[in-house]
Amino acid sequence: MELFRKKENLTQHIQTLKSKGLIIGFVPTMGALHDGHLTLVRQAQAECDVVVVSIFVNPTQFNNKDDLRFYPRKEAEDLAMLEKIGCNIVFAPDEKEMYPEPDTRQFNLGPLASTMEGEFRPGHFNGVAQVVTKLFEIVQPHKAYFGQKDFQQLAIITAITKELKYPIEIVPVPTVREQDGLAMSSRNERLTQEQRAMAPVIYKTLKSAVELQHSMTVEEVEQWVIHQIHTSSTMKVEYFKIVNAETLRPIRNWHEKCKIIGCIAVYCGDVRLIDNIFFN
Ligand code: PAF
Repeated sequence: MELFRKKENLTQHIQTLKSKGLIIGFVPTMGALHDGHLTLVRQAQAECDVVVVSIFVNPTQFNNKDDLRFYPRKEAEDLAMLEKIGCNIVFAPDEKEMYPEPDTRQFNLGPLASTMEGEFRPGHFNGVAQVVTKLFEIVQPHKAYFGQKDFQQLAIITAITKELKYPIEIVPVPTVREQDGLAMSSRNERLTQEQRAMAPVIYKTLKSAVELQHSMTVEEVEQWVIHQIHTSSTMKVEYFKIVNAETLRPIRNWHEKCKIIGCIAVYCGDVRLIDNIFFN
């Protein structure tokens, strides 16, 4: 496995590999890797000749200073995990390398970014767009892999890729869960034992909500989920919205001809967890 810290060296190396006809797969991460990330890497390995993983905790996408400060950083362990599963290339730049000067670009992300995460984490998706476009320009992969747990991020990155005409296929990968249903996330490490025991209530409630679509309206199911989590745990729901999975606009009834997804953000203590579930 080769480790690159400098973008020019990586870009040059990848151009050489591409000139040999090799297909490059890319998995961008913020490190603190878990099985969810490794699933992305394994899928990339199955579909590409060379897999590049980036590890960079991107400061511009954090709207909360403490969230950035406490975000887990474990580079040595991450590198060992990637080496073990046969990853080819890791790009782990420092902040100066990624942002030699402040990135002032403002992306017009439209309605996809103004709801849910966009509403509660102002500036978050602009920061994601800044770093992902920089990474895409450095790596120039054929395919890039993103988890469906961050469903809104996936929708926005797919839209930006199309808008900016990057010749990159965005590959969505289903959420990987712990045995008790909790969606894998680097933030799970910050849960206390008690919070960790409570957190599976989120996915359990989402699964029950899917069943309730036969007997309740969309609005009733939204309210039920929030009420259920608040009465069966001490977690606080920030939002739960049932939306069109393509436009992320709210749906009015279950008969709308679109893929329907319910997206949730919950505070478990001061750890913010997100998850989602398809209704059809
Ligand atoms: O999903 C993440 O880990 C991050 O948002 C990403 C895509 C690596 C950009 O920093």
